[in-house]
Amino acid sequence: MSKKVCLTGIKATGMPHLGNYVGAIKPAIDMANSGLYDSYYFIADYHSLVSIHDPKLMRSFSYEVAAAWLAMGLDPSRVTLYKQSDIPEILELHWITSCFTIKGLMNRAHAYKAQVQDNEVLERDADHGVNIGLYTYPILMASDIMILNADVVPVGADQLQHIEIARDIATAFNNTYGNKLKLPKAIVREGNKLLSGLDGRKMSKSYGNHIPLFSSDKDLKKLINRITTDSSGPTEPKNPAESLIFDFYSEFATPEQTEALRARYLRGIGWGEAKMELLSVLNHLLKEPREMYAELMVNTTKIDRILEEGAAKVRPQAQALLKDLKYSIGVK
Ligand code: ADP
Ligand code: TRP
Repeated sequence: MSKKVCLTGIKATGMPHLGNYVGAIKPAIDMANSGLYDSYYFIADYHSLVSIHDPKLMRSFSYEVAAAWLAMGLDPSRVTLYKQSDIPEILELHWITSCFTIKGLMNRAHAYKAQVQDNEVLERDADHGVNIGLYTYPILMASDIMILNADVVPVGADQLQHIEIARDIATAFNNTYGNKLKLPKAIVREGNKLLSGLDGRKMSKSYGNHIPLFSSDKDLKKLINRITTDSSGPTEPKNPAESLIFDFYSEFATPEQTEALRARYLRGIGWGEAKMELLSVLNHLLKEPREMYAELMVNTTKIDRILEEGAAKVRPQAQALLKDLKYSIGVK
């Protein structure tokens, strides 16, 4: 029996951060390494075009995302890594899927809704800053998933709505033409938890509260120092359940290290000391990836080659699927 297809994408909107790592990159790499799936991971550069209109930035962010996947352990001999814009078939499918998407679904999509709500607060026209790419963003995402008939999609919990929309679109298509498109299943980490950012809200590039994955030791220290703490003294006991530092720590440390820090919190620990412990586990996790990332970014020809090979593998499969769908809808 053929393996299930696992697929996920990351937008090229900046260097990935720790939230992207725990929510999407790490689970996806673990799934690929399990050997249970055929894995396809990509850089969603056309999705970035919704907001990135500077060609230099677009190029550089695309390389940053590819380098991040590779530096955090993606093995290109086990995973097909590619760039969305190298697979034009996705855009053909985008049109077909658009014709099976109820407009109301897009009105409810959260990225678009958030923009409309911001406009309301600022008393601007509801459509201010909304391009059609933002409005139909979930349809392109559905097409990314369906072009390879993916079974499972590892993503952060904020993407669950998009996967639901993809399922709705596939169902609408299948209701007319028979079971042609698979209904994808989202894989989110336990408890649907999103990693918090430095200010306690969801870590996100758009909130500027994120820790970029490949920050230097010095920058990492500065960012960790920004985490706000209360005024309790260094010998006073502290509650680990109410500490963002502890939250971060337990995410990246071993269970033994986490238990040891918990005990120190209960006995009494200075915030400065707790921050140093956090810095040390993050540096340990990121030391080698940081070096590999720097190497990949100095000479991007290796990334180019990997992405070209990825696209060459994906395109024939994408073409076969489209051929079948075109026959189904009657344009062939
Ligand atoms: P951002 O919100 O910073 O722009 P993206 O939208 O590019 O991040 O997210 C890429 C992937 O990382 C998605 O699967 C998303 O669900 C996941 N992700 C983003 N932020 C977090 C977070 N704070 N915790 C867990 N997963 C996250
Ligand atoms: N929308 C996702 C995000 O903002 C990125 C993405 C685009 C994606 N296409 C995808 C994720 C397909 C999973 C599958 O993070």
